[in-house]
Amino acid sequence: MPEKEKETQDGQLSRRQFLRNAGIVVGGTAVGSTFILSGCGNGEEVTKTVTVTKTVTVNGDPVVDTEPGVVTLNVNKKDNVLKVEPEWSLVFVLREKLGLTGAKVGCDRGECGSCTILVDGKAVYACMMLAIECEGKEITTVEGLADGPDLHPVQQLFLDNATLQCGYCTPGNIMTGVALLDKNPSPTRADVQEALAGNLCWCIDYTRTINTIYKGGQ
Ligand code: FES
Repeated sequence: MPEKEKETQDGQLSRRQFLRNAGIVVGGTAVGSTFILSGCGNGEEVTKTVTVTKTVTVNGDPVVDTEPGVVTLNVNKKDNVLKVEPEWSLVFVLREKLGLTGAKVGCDRGECGSCTILVDGKAVYACMMLAIECEGKEITTVEGLADGPDLHPVQQLFLDNATLQCGYCTPGNIMTGVALLDKNPSPTRADVQEALAGNLCWCIDYTRTINTIYKGGQ
């Protein structure tokens, strides 16, 4: 995209560019390491035990297969080899290690949906996944939706219908819409409402967001 399209005349990001960047896990791993993740979602305590066993290469060179925490994460169709700590969440790695800040962190505990991304085509909370357990999965963030200068149809719908106010929840809403329409191309309003149940918003009315995604199926 031409540089001049990225900014408005006063140097602010254009709404189109914001939508492109607004949205938010990668692959090799440790050998014989076991990690435990605990958290809360929908009022229920969740505990996961993750054991990783794999050998990887970094830039074509073999990495010592007992080195823990080296993973290859495929994000937006690109492999990223990096060393992660066992407790690092996916959203942390995406934002702080890969520079993909589209997925936002609102609550960091699985309640608000602002960190929603796609993992193997499903909308998930990136704050509730460990990066180290995401090797071999296909991760898509809002940055991976556009095709060159062309926004994804759902991004375009949000733009055309001005479906944002402060914009903080917008990436998560878009990713939820993409996941729904990929699975169900002609959802009812009730389907859209149910899909968006895990995406909270503090300033725009939910009806507009529901109607925008619903239009994507008409
Ligand atoms: Fe992940 Fe709120 S930041 S659900």
